[in-house]
Amino acid sequence: MIDLVTIVGARPQFVKAAAVSRAFATVGGIDECIVHTGQHYDDTMSAVFFRELEIPEPTVNLGISGNSHGAMTGRMLEAIEKILVDRRPDGVLVYGDTNSTLAGALAASKLDIPIIHVEAGLRSYRRAMPEEINRVLTDHLSTLLLCPTRHSIDNLAREGIARGCHHIGDVMYDATIHARDRAMQVSTVLSRLGLRQRGYAVATLHRAENTDDPDRLARLIDFLRSEARSMPVVLPLHPRTQKAAASAGLGFDDLVVLPPLGFLDMHRLLADAVLVMTDSGGLQKEAYFHRVPCVTLRDETEWGETVEAGWNRLWQGPDFRPRRDIDDYGTGNAARLAVEHMVEALS
Ligand code: UD1
Repeated sequence: MIDLVTIVGARPQFVKAAAVSRAFATVGGIDECIVHTGQHYDDTMSAVFFRELEIPEPTVNLGISGNSHGAMTGRMLEAIEKILVDRRPDGVLVYGDTNSTLAGALAASKLDIPIIHVEAGLRSYRRAMPEEINRVLTDHLSTLLLCPTRHSIDNLAREGIARGCHHIGDVMYDATIHARDRAMQVSTVLSRLGLRQRGYAVATLHRAENTDDPDRLARLIDFLRSEARSMPVVLPLHPRTQKAAASAGLGFDDLVVLPPLGFLDMHRLLADAVLVMTDSGGLQKEAYFHRVPCVTLRDETEWGETVEAGWNRLWQGPDFRPRRDIDDYGTGNAARLAVEHMVEALS
Protein backbone atom coordinates (compact mmCIF):
# COMPACT_ATOMS: atom_id res chain seq x y z
CA MET A 1 0.00 0.00 0.00
CA ILE A 2 1.28 3.47 -0.93
CA ASP A 3 1.20 5.90 1.99
CA LEU A 4 0.18 9.37 0.80
CA VAL A 5 -0.25 12.62 2.70
CA THR A 6 -2.64 15.13 1.09
CA ILE A 7 -2.40 18.79 2.04
CA VAL A 8 -5.52 20.94 1.70
CA GLY A 9 -6.46 24.25 3.29
CA ALA A 10 -8.57 26.51 1.11
CA ARG A 11 -11.97 26.23 -0.50
CA PRO A 12 -10.98 25.31 -4.09
CA GLN A 13 -8.75 22.52 -2.78
CA PHE A 14 -11.63 20.82 -1.00
CA VAL A 15 -13.48 20.50 -4.30
CA LYS A 16 -10.47 18.97 -6.06
CA ALA A 17 -9.69 16.66 -3.13
CA ALA A 18 -13.29 15.43 -3.13
CA ALA A 19 -12.93 14.10 -6.68
CA VAL A 20 -9.50 12.54 -6.12
CA SER A 21 -10.29 11.02 -2.68
CA ARG A 22 -13.32 9.33 -4.26
CA ALA A 23 -11.06 7.89 -6.96
CA PHE A 24 -8.65 6.56 -4.30
CA ALA A 25 -11.54 4.51 -2.95
CA THR A 26 -12.37 3.01 -6.37
CA VAL A 27 -8.87 2.50 -7.83
CA GLY A 28 -7.28 1.24 -4.58
CA GLY A 29 -3.59 0.87 -3.71
CA ILE A 30 -3.27 4.19 -1.84
CA ASP A 31 -3.74 4.91 1.85
CA GLU A 32 -4.50 8.63 2.17
CA CYS A 33 -3.95 10.83 5.22
CA ILE A 34 -5.59 14.26 4.80
CA VAL A 35 -3.95 17.24 6.50
CA HIS A 36 -6.05 20.44 6.64
CA THR A 37 -3.83 23.45 7.26
CA GLY A 38 -6.76 25.49 8.58
CA GLN A 39 -6.22 28.34 6.06
CA HIS A 40 -9.99 28.50 5.58
CA TYR A 41 -11.89 27.88 8.79
CA ASP A 42 -15.44 29.35 8.61
CA ASP A 43 -18.18 26.75 8.26
CA THR A 44 -19.17 28.35 4.93
CA MET A 45 -15.59 28.27 3.63
CA SER A 46 -14.55 24.81 4.83
CA ALA A 47 -16.81 22.39 6.77
CA VAL A 48 -19.74 22.75 4.34
CA PHE A 49 -17.55 21.37 1.54
CA PHE A 50 -16.46 18.36 3.59
CA ARG A 51 -20.13 17.60 4.37
CA GLU A 52 -21.61 18.19 0.93
CA LEU A 53 -18.81 16.57 -1.04
CA GLU A 54 -18.43 13.67 1.42
CA ILE A 55 -14.69 14.22 1.80
CA PRO A 56 -13.12 12.00 4.48
CA GLU A 57 -12.53 13.92 7.72
CA PRO A 58 -8.99 15.36 7.83
CA THR A 59 -6.70 13.31 10.07
CA VAL A 60 -5.14 16.54 11.31
CA ASN A 61 -6.28 20.18 11.28
CA LEU A 62 -3.34 22.50 11.90
CA GLY A 63 -5.54 25.53 12.57
CA ILE A 64 -3.19 27.96 10.81
CA SER A 65 -4.84 30.95 9.11
CA GLY A 66 -4.70 34.71 8.69
CA ASN A 67 -1.63 36.86 9.25
CA SER A 68 0.78 37.87 6.46
CA HIS A 69 1.37 35.38 3.65
CA GLY A 70 4.97 34.81 4.76
CA ALA A 71 3.99 34.14 8.37
CA MET A 72 1.11 31.87 7.35
CA THR A 73 3.25 29.86 4.93
CA GLY A 74 6.12 29.62 7.41
CA ARG A 75 3.93 28.31 10.22
CA MET A 76 2.39 25.76 7.87
CA LEU A 77 5.82 24.65 6.65
CA GLU A 78 7.00 23.95 10.19
CA ALA A 79 3.84 22.07 11.19
CA ILE A 80 3.66 19.99 8.00
CA GLU A 81 7.33 19.06 8.28
CA LYS A 82 6.70 17.57 11.74
CA ILE A 83 3.92 15.38 10.34
CA LEU A 84 6.05 14.23 7.41
CA VAL A 85 9.03 13.42 9.65
CA ASP A 86 6.78 11.27 11.85
CA ARG A 87 4.95 9.55 9.05
CA ARG A 88 7.56 9.33 6.27
CA PRO A 89 4.95 8.93 3.50
CA ASP A 90 5.75 7.70 -0.01
CA GLY A 91 4.38 10.92 -1.50
CA VAL A 92 2.76 14.28 -0.74
CA LEU A 93 -0.22 15.42 -2.80
CA VAL A 94 -0.93 19.14 -3.22
CA TYR A 95 -3.59 20.99 -5.21
CA GLY A 96 -3.66 24.30 -7.03
CA ASP A 97 -1.84 27.44 -5.96
CA THR A 98 -2.62 28.57 -2.43
CA ASN A 99 -0.24 29.18 0.46
CA SER A 100 -1.18 25.72 1.74
CA THR A 101 -0.01 24.24 -1.59
CA LEU A 102 3.40 25.90 -1.38
CA ALA A 103 3.88 25.01 2.30
CA GLY A 104 3.13 21.34 1.56
CA ALA A 105 5.47 21.27 -1.43
CA LEU A 106 8.33 22.98 0.43
CA ALA A 107 8.02 20.70 3.46
CA ALA A 108 8.07 17.58 1.26
CA SER A 109 10.96 18.81 -0.90
CA LYS A 110 13.18 19.41 2.14
CA LEU A 111 12.64 15.79 3.19
CA ASP A 112 13.11 14.51 -0.37
CA ILE A 113 9.58 13.10 -0.49
CA PRO A 114 8.06 12.96 -4.01
CA ILE A 115 5.45 15.67 -4.64
CA ILE A 116 2.36 15.23 -6.77
CA HIS A 117 0.82 18.48 -8.00
CA VAL A 118 -2.74 18.33 -9.26
CA GLU A 119 -3.59 21.37 -11.41
CA ALA A 120 0.03 21.86 -12.44
CA GLY A 121 1.25 24.19 -15.18
CA LEU A 122 -1.22 27.07 -14.94
CA ARG A 123 0.31 30.50 -15.45
CA SER A 124 -0.91 34.10 -15.39
CA TYR A 125 2.60 35.42 -16.07
CA ARG A 126 2.01 38.05 -13.38
CA ARG A 127 4.49 37.62 -10.58
CA ALA A 128 2.71 40.17 -8.35
CA MET A 129 -0.04 37.61 -7.88
CA PRO A 130 0.65 35.43 -4.81
CA GLU A 131 -0.85 32.38 -6.51
CA GLU A 132 1.58 32.69 -9.45
CA ILE A 133 4.59 32.39 -7.11
CA ASN A 134 2.96 29.46 -5.31
CA ARG A 135 2.30 27.54 -8.52
CA VAL A 136 5.65 28.22 -10.21
CA LEU A 137 7.59 27.10 -7.15
CA THR A 138 5.37 24.07 -6.55
CA ASP A 139 5.72 22.94 -10.18
CA HIS A 140 9.50 23.22 -10.04
CA LEU A 141 9.58 21.04 -6.91
CA SER A 142 7.14 18.37 -8.13
CA THR A 143 7.84 14.84 -9.34
CA LEU A 144 4.45 14.23 -10.91
CA LEU A 145 2.72 17.18 -12.58
CA LEU A 146 -0.90 16.48 -13.41
CA CYS A 147 -2.19 19.13 -15.80
CA PRO A 148 -5.79 20.12 -16.54
CA THR A 149 -5.23 21.60 -20.04
CA ARG A 150 -2.94 21.50 -23.08
CA HIS A 151 -1.85 25.07 -22.38
CA SER A 152 -0.58 24.00 -18.95
CA ILE A 153 1.60 21.28 -20.50
CA ASP A 154 3.01 23.90 -22.94
CA ASN A 155 3.68 26.34 -20.08
CA LEU A 156 5.73 23.73 -18.24
CA ALA A 157 7.65 22.85 -21.41
CA ARG A 158 8.61 26.54 -21.79
CA GLU A 159 10.14 26.35 -18.29
CA GLY A 160 12.06 23.18 -19.17
CA ILE A 161 9.74 20.82 -17.28
CA ALA A 162 8.74 17.78 -19.34
CA ARG A 163 9.41 14.75 -17.17
CA GLY A 164 6.47 13.58 -15.05
CA CYS A 165 3.95 15.86 -16.84
CA HIS A 166 0.60 14.42 -17.91
CA HIS A 167 -2.53 16.05 -19.30
CA ILE A 168 -5.31 14.36 -17.28
CA GLY A 169 -8.22 16.83 -17.63
CA ASP A 170 -9.83 18.81 -14.85
CA VAL A 171 -10.78 17.12 -11.58
CA MET A 172 -13.21 20.02 -10.98
CA TYR A 173 -15.22 18.74 -13.92
CA ASP A 174 -15.42 15.35 -12.21
CA ALA A 175 -16.66 17.09 -9.04
CA THR A 176 -19.29 19.02 -11.02
CA ILE A 177 -20.63 15.90 -12.72
CA HIS A 178 -20.82 14.14 -9.37
CA ALA A 179 -22.74 16.96 -7.64
CA ARG A 180 -24.91 18.36 -10.44
CA ASP A 181 -27.99 16.15 -10.01
CA ARG A 182 -27.88 16.33 -6.22
CA ALA A 183 -27.66 20.14 -6.42
CA MET A 184 -30.80 20.25 -8.58
CA GLN A 185 -32.65 18.00 -6.13
CA VAL A 186 -31.67 19.38 -2.74
CA SER A 187 -30.73 23.04 -3.12
CA THR A 188 -33.46 25.57 -2.34
CA VAL A 189 -31.32 28.60 -3.17
CA LEU A 190 -33.52 29.89 -6.01
CA SER A 191 -36.67 29.98 -3.92
CA ARG A 192 -34.80 31.32 -0.87
CA LEU A 193 -33.60 34.26 -2.94
CA GLY A 194 -36.79 34.64 -5.00
CA LEU A 195 -34.91 34.16 -8.30
CA ARG A 196 -36.45 33.14 -11.62
CA GLN A 197 -34.81 30.40 -13.70
CA ARG A 198 -32.59 32.03 -16.36
CA GLY A 199 -33.32 35.43 -14.84
CA TYR A 200 -30.18 36.39 -12.90
CA ALA A 201 -26.36 36.60 -12.90
CA VAL A 202 -23.89 35.20 -10.36
CA ALA A 203 -20.78 37.11 -9.31
CA THR A 204 -17.82 36.48 -7.00
CA LEU A 205 -14.88 38.70 -6.14
CA HIS A 206 -12.04 37.86 -3.78
CA ARG A 207 -8.59 38.13 -5.42
CA ALA A 208 -6.11 40.25 -3.50
CA GLU A 209 -5.32 42.21 -6.71
CA ASN A 210 -8.99 43.30 -6.80
CA THR A 211 -9.84 43.69 -3.14
CA ASP A 212 -6.68 45.35 -1.83
CA ASP A 213 -6.78 48.37 -4.15
CA PRO A 214 -9.81 50.50 -3.08
CA ASP A 215 -10.06 52.29 -6.47
CA ARG A 216 -10.07 49.04 -8.38
CA LEU A 217 -12.54 47.48 -5.96
CA ALA A 218 -14.85 50.50 -6.43
CA ARG A 219 -14.64 50.18 -10.24
CA LEU A 220 -15.42 46.45 -10.08
CA ILE A 221 -18.41 47.00 -7.81
CA ASP A 222 -19.63 49.68 -10.26
CA PHE A 223 -19.23 47.19 -13.10
CA LEU A 224 -21.40 44.64 -11.24
CA ARG A 225 -23.97 47.34 -10.41
CA SER A 226 -24.22 48.32 -14.09
CA GLU A 227 -25.10 44.67 -14.91
CA ALA A 228 -27.65 44.72 -12.06
CA ARG A 229 -29.69 47.29 -14.00
CA SER A 230 -30.90 44.51 -16.34
CA MET A 231 -31.18 41.56 -13.92
CA PRO A 232 -30.49 40.60 -10.29
CA VAL A 233 -26.78 40.01 -9.64
CA VAL A 234 -26.19 37.54 -6.80
CA LEU A 235 -22.89 38.11 -4.97
CA PRO A 236 -21.86 35.53 -2.35
CA LEU A 237 -19.23 37.50 -0.48
CA HIS A 238 -15.78 36.21 0.50
CA PRO A 239 -14.62 37.44 3.96
CA ARG A 240 -11.60 39.15 2.37
CA THR A 241 -13.87 41.29 0.14
CA GLN A 242 -16.24 42.06 2.97
CA LYS A 243 -13.36 43.35 5.12
CA ALA A 244 -11.77 45.31 2.24
CA ALA A 245 -15.06 46.99 1.25
CA ALA A 246 -15.84 47.90 4.85
CA SER A 247 -12.44 49.50 5.39
CA ALA A 248 -12.66 51.40 2.07
CA GLY A 249 -16.18 52.61 2.94
CA LEU A 250 -17.70 50.86 -0.11
CA GLY A 251 -21.22 49.40 -0.17
CA PHE A 252 -22.91 46.86 -2.42
CA ASP A 253 -26.17 48.71 -3.24
CA ASP A 254 -28.29 47.09 -5.99
CA LEU A 255 -26.52 43.71 -5.61
CA VAL A 256 -27.95 40.63 -3.87
CA VAL A 257 -25.21 40.07 -1.29
CA LEU A 258 -25.00 36.73 0.58
CA PRO A 259 -22.54 34.88 2.79
CA PRO A 260 -20.27 32.42 0.89
CA LEU A 261 -22.28 29.54 -0.60
CA GLY A 262 -21.70 25.81 -0.31
CA PHE A 263 -20.98 23.68 -3.37
CA LEU A 264 -24.54 22.48 -3.98
CA ASP A 265 -26.16 25.92 -3.74
CA MET A 266 -23.49 27.37 -6.02
CA HIS A 267 -24.04 24.68 -8.65
CA ARG A 268 -27.81 25.10 -8.44
CA LEU A 269 -27.35 28.83 -9.04
CA LEU A 270 -24.97 28.20 -11.95
CA ALA A 271 -27.37 25.77 -13.60
CA ASP A 272 -29.93 28.54 -14.24
CA ALA A 273 -27.77 31.67 -14.44
CA VAL A 274 -27.50 33.67 -17.66
CA LEU A 275 -24.10 35.16 -16.82
CA VAL A 276 -21.21 34.61 -14.40
CA MET A 277 -18.83 37.42 -13.42
CA THR A 278 -15.87 36.31 -11.33
CA ASP A 279 -12.19 36.57 -10.50
CA SER A 280 -12.11 32.94 -9.35
CA GLY A 281 -10.28 30.42 -11.52
CA GLY A 282 -12.58 27.55 -10.57
CA LEU A 283 -15.79 29.44 -11.30
CA GLN A 284 -14.64 30.39 -14.82
CA LYS A 285 -14.65 26.70 -15.71
CA GLU A 286 -17.69 25.78 -13.63
CA ALA A 287 -19.59 28.41 -15.64
CA TYR A 288 -18.53 26.59 -18.81
CA PHE A 289 -19.46 23.19 -17.33
CA HIS A 290 -23.00 24.59 -17.04
CA ARG A 291 -22.65 26.30 -20.44
CA VAL A 292 -23.06 29.78 -18.94
CA PRO A 293 -20.92 32.60 -20.40
CA CYS A 294 -18.43 34.19 -18.01
CA VAL A 295 -16.87 37.63 -17.69
CA THR A 296 -13.56 37.33 -15.84
CA LEU A 297 -12.90 40.22 -13.46
CA ARG A 298 -9.15 40.20 -14.02
CA ASP A 299 -6.62 41.44 -16.59
CA GLU A 300 -5.62 37.92 -17.66
CA THR A 301 -6.75 34.34 -17.15
CA GLU A 302 -4.93 31.04 -16.70
CA TRP A 303 -7.81 29.32 -18.50
CA GLY A 304 -7.09 30.64 -22.01
CA GLU A 305 -9.06 27.86 -23.72
CA THR A 306 -12.31 29.24 -22.23
CA VAL A 307 -11.63 32.58 -23.97
CA GLU A 308 -10.56 30.93 -27.24
CA ALA A 309 -13.75 28.84 -27.24
CA GLY A 310 -15.98 31.90 -26.76
CA TRP A 311 -17.27 31.13 -23.24
CA ASN A 312 -15.20 33.66 -21.35
CA ARG A 313 -13.93 37.20 -21.78
CA LEU A 314 -11.98 39.68 -19.66
CA TRP A 315 -14.08 42.48 -18.18
CA GLN A 316 -11.96 45.18 -19.87
CA GLY A 317 -11.12 43.06 -22.93
CA PRO A 318 -12.67 42.27 -26.33
CA ASP A 319 -16.13 40.73 -26.73
CA PHE A 320 -16.82 36.97 -26.68
CA ARG A 321 -15.43 35.01 -29.63
CA PRO A 322 -17.65 32.53 -31.54
CA ARG A 323 -18.56 29.62 -29.27
CA ARG A 324 -17.43 26.02 -29.47
CA ASP A 325 -16.96 23.14 -27.05
CA ILE A 326 -13.71 22.64 -25.11
CA ASP A 327 -12.22 19.14 -24.98
CA ASP A 328 -9.31 19.85 -22.59
CA TYR A 329 -11.17 19.06 -19.38
CA GLY A 330 -11.81 15.38 -20.09
CA THR A 331 -14.93 13.31 -19.68
CA GLY A 332 -15.16 13.20 -15.90
CA ASN A 333 -12.29 10.71 -15.56
CA ALA A 334 -9.49 13.12 -14.56
CA ALA A 335 -9.37 11.97 -10.94
CA ARG A 336 -9.13 8.30 -11.94
CA LEU A 337 -6.27 9.14 -14.33
CA ALA A 338 -4.58 11.13 -11.55
CA VAL A 339 -4.70 8.16 -9.19
CA GLU A 340 -3.44 5.76 -11.86
CA HIS A 341 -0.44 8.04 -12.51
CA MET A 342 0.24 8.25 -8.75
CA VAL A 343 0.16 4.48 -8.33
CA GLU A 344 2.54 4.06 -11.27
CA ALA A 345 4.95 6.78 -10.12
CA LEU A 346 5.07 5.81 -6.43
CA SER A 347 5.03 1.97 -6.63
C1 UD1 B 1 -7.00 31.93 -0.80
C2 UD1 B 1 -5.99 31.64 -1.92
C3 UD1 B 1 -6.64 31.90 -3.27
C4 UD1 B 1 -7.94 31.17 -3.43
C5 UD1 B 1 -8.84 31.53 -2.28
C6 UD1 B 1 -10.15 30.79 -2.37
C7 UD1 B 1 -3.68 32.14 -1.26
C8 UD1 B 1 -2.52 33.04 -1.48
N1 UD1 B 1 -4.82 32.53 -1.83
O1 UD1 B 1 -7.26 33.32 -0.82
O2 UD1 B 1 -5.75 31.46 -4.28
O3 UD1 B 1 -8.54 31.53 -4.65
O4 UD1 B 1 -8.17 31.18 -1.06
O5 UD1 B 1 -11.10 31.33 -1.50
O6 UD1 B 1 -3.54 31.13 -0.61
N2 UD1 B 1 -10.95 34.40 6.12
C9 UD1 B 1 -12.00 34.27 7.00
N3 UD1 B 1 -12.60 33.05 7.09
C10 UD1 B 1 -12.19 31.98 6.33
C11 UD1 B 1 -11.12 32.13 5.44
C12 UD1 B 1 -10.50 33.37 5.34
O7 UD1 B 1 -12.40 35.21 7.68
O8 UD1 B 1 -12.76 30.88 6.48
C13 UD1 B 1 -10.24 35.68 6.05
C14 UD1 B 1 -8.80 35.52 6.52
O9 UD1 B 1 -8.69 35.61 7.89
C15 UD1 B 1 -8.13 36.65 5.78
C16 UD1 B 1 -8.90 36.72 4.47
O10 UD1 B 1 -10.17 36.10 4.70
O11 UD1 B 1 -8.27 37.86 6.45
C17 UD1 B 1 -8.17 36.07 3.34
O12 UD1 B 1 -7.92 34.68 3.60
P1 UD1 B 1 -6.60 33.95 3.06
O13 UD1 B 1 -6.64 32.53 3.48
O14 UD1 B 1 -5.40 34.77 3.41
O15 UD1 B 1 -6.68 34.02 1.48
P2 UD1 B 1 -7.92 34.03 0.46
O16 UD1 B 1 -8.16 35.43 0.05
O17 UD1 B 1 -9.06 33.24 0.97
